[in-house]
Amino acid sequence: MHEDTPAGVPAGAPPRAGDDDLHAQWQRVVGRRSFLKGVGLAGAAAVPGSALLAGEAFAKSSRITEGDVAILRFLAAAELIESDLWSQYAELGGANGGNAAYVGALQNLDTDMPQYISDNTDDEISHARFLNAYLHSKGAKGVNLDEFRTLPSSKATGARQVGRLTNLQALDVDTSWYTRYRSTSNPDLGAKFPQAVTIRNQPAIPVSDQDTPPNHKQPTGPPFTSEESRMQAIANTAGFHFAMIEQGGSSLYSTMALKASSLEVLRIVVAIGGVETNHFSLWHDKAGNAVSQPLAGVTDPETGLHFPDLNASGGEATQTNLILPEPAKFIPGLPDVSIVRPTLDKNAGAMAAIRGLTADQLFKGQSPRFFQTVMRLARAADSAQRRLGH
Ligand SMILES: [Fe+2]
Ligand SMILES: [Fe+2]
Repeated sequence: MHEDTPAGVPAGAPPRAGDDDLHAQWQRVVGRRSFLKGVGLAGAAAVPGSALLAGEAFAKSSRITEGDVAILRFLAAAELIESDLWSQYAELGGANGGNAAYVGALQNLDTDMPQYISDNTDDEISHARFLNAYLHSKGAKGVNLDEFRTLPSSKATGARQVGRLTNLQALDVDTSWYTRYRSTSNPDLGAKFPQAVTIRNQPAIPVSDQDTPPNHKQPTGPPFTSEESRMQAIANTAGFHFAMIEQGGSSLYSTMALKASSLEVLRIVVAIGGVETNHFSLWHDKAGNAVSQPLAGVTDPETGLHFPDLNASGGEATQTNLILPEPAKFIPGLPDVSIVRPTLDKNAGAMAAIRGLTADQLFKGQSPRFFQTVMRLARAADSAQRRLGH
């Protein structure tokens, strides 16, 4: 059976004459045979291109470089962390979310928020599972962070009472991604970006039923009572946190792709990374609804956190519907271009990702051993180097 290419041509068939693009692709597939000899797959020259692209037999019968294992192990850890935090959001505010008032407040950002939260959660769980399964298929060790599921759950209605890897109850959400993606400057060229909203020590999920009664009817639109304002500020914080997490994933995967040696590992990193960027784009749009009319102007009565109207200035630096990446400086001397940024190790690599999540207070309460474990995985991933011929 042939697997069809997007062009509708069976991957195993030779290209039609005169189709330059397809010809180049074909050459690359054929060129992969010499690569396969290098990793010890017997009889590689006899394997048709379709089987190489399908990859299944290949996955089971070859090993990958230490660097590729390090990249995938760190990404598996990152996905377990994402799965843990997204599961907390989904339990309270997802499609079957158990906290009606939180669901109502999230729906002020978009009535489809609960579905999107559930789907994003499923995606992260699939990413973690797949990466570990792939590592195992290559004879490499997967990643298991279960021993670190020690942080307390929210006491609010809807939250399961189980140990967590992450803490969503007192976040310092970095919102500079919002101004960064509206700017033509690039963090990889040293640019710094202001916060869109200053979110400090703020829960992104309801923490208890005393603090936020789960069954009050959250109004559609701006809150009136202090209870409603508290819940809306918590949901708005979640909205900004969703995008913060997923823009980080977009940069991390782009950065890790540059280190991959095996074409199959590169395919995995690029294909999952694209979904992180897809998530970011969605949440970028929803976060804007927390800081535009009719919802803008919410203040948390407990923490004082304020969500202003970011369209009030009339400037493009904060305009809420400018959610697609502004073309930015990238390679000096060349025109501005719309890109994921940052994509350099020091700003977007594995250590940078752990530093960012730690500053977010996502790991507040975690043990020193947890930090040692994730930093060891991060250092190994950052040390991976692209090696051609693997
Ligand atoms: Fe993910
Ligand atoms: Fe993600």
